[in-house]
Amino acid sequence: MHGALSFRPTGSPVTARIALLALLTTGCSGPQSMLDPAGPGAAAIAGSWWFLLVVVTAVFLVVMAALGRAIFRSRPEADESADIERRRVVLVILAGAAVPAVILAVIFVHTLLVLEDVSPPRSGDELVVEVVGRQYWWEVRYPQPGDADTVVTANEIHVPVGRPVSLTLRSEDVIHSLWVPRLHGKTDMIPGRTNVAWLRADEPGEYRGQCAEYCGRQHTWMALYVVAEPEEEFRAWLARQRRPAAAVAPAPDSVSEAMDHPGPPVPDSVRAAGLARNARIRRGREVFLDPANRCVACHTVRGETDGRGTAEQASPGDTAARTVVGPDLTHVASRRTLAAGLLRTNRGNMAGWIANPQVLKPGNLMPRIPLEPAELNALLDYLMSLR
Ligand code: CUA
Repeated sequence: MHGALSFRPTGSPVTARIALLALLTTGCSGPQSMLDPAGPGAAAIAGSWWFLLVVVTAVFLVVMAALGRAIFRSRPEADESADIERRRVVLVILAGAAVPAVILAVIFVHTLLVLEDVSPPRSGDELVVEVVGRQYWWEVRYPQPGDADTVVTANEIHVPVGRPVSLTLRSEDVIHSLWVPRLHGKTDMIPGRTNVAWLRADEPGEYRGQCAEYCGRQHTWMALYVVAEPEEEFRAWLARQRRPAAAVAPAPDSVSEAMDHPGPPVPDSVRAAGLARNARIRRGREVFLDPANRCVACHTVRGETDGRGTAEQASPGDTAARTVVGPDLTHVASRRTLAAGLLRTNRGNMAGWIANPQVLKPGNLMPRIPLEPAELNALLDYLMSLR
């Protein structure tokens, strides 16, 4: 066969070896590689991994060499002297018991030291974030004194660079496991109990995380991002998220009233487009809040759905017993992804998701809501305005 896909072994053995090495080391980088650490917890784990790799590789090579020697050496004479017999006994005691005992002791001490390195720091200035695992997404809460100020978001944990973050982990359905490989090891989220994990990001960036415990059909698409920002940016983000939903502009009495602001006059076409968009957002808000469409049965938009959804009706004011079904949407358009890492947040993906969430992520809890095209368009304008 000829063509781009035909394979001819033209490379030199050296090229082949380099290619193999490159293939083997692809696991050492990438957005979710524990061998590319970006924080002290992950660095301790990666260091331990390399140390153990070196030790077990050395043991493997020595054992293979001894095996090879045993197979290929010439057979000794039948009449063995007592001297050879004694050397054999010493060899068995040394290689079979003493050396393994020393190696295991070294690994034991090494493990104790690494455990110390991955334990939560006792600095006292850590940020506390609550993460609740749900099939198949992550509820993320930043508790504040006075529950009204608590920031609730989903599938995205924003953290300040360089500060330890204490993660309080719970699950509301089955066992999940939070794993952000470049920042720390895994910690299970078990229904009925609270586990605590911690992480610290030393560089700004986005770190992908993944549910690491099989939890159902969409376990694979239970991803999240840890977004590490300088302290200032993090505080600004938190302040924005704390606000209730952006108020929808009221219906203007006239074009000039809606766009009245100092500065050069706004072209009529721009005014008209802005007004039309505002009208669609208002219409979309109505679609969202209409109980017949069932959005508010599962989703909260702070400042809009208060007292409307089942969440609030089930237990007014009682946050501990609150029933959460779907992600809080107060600032949904500010998040990187929809459906826990499945789709980048943009209007088109949002449209596809609402049109048929069961096609994109079969088995998730969101039903298909039949909407007229005009209603869906308006709803998209409203949701994408929630920044
Ligand atoms: Cu949640 Cu796997």
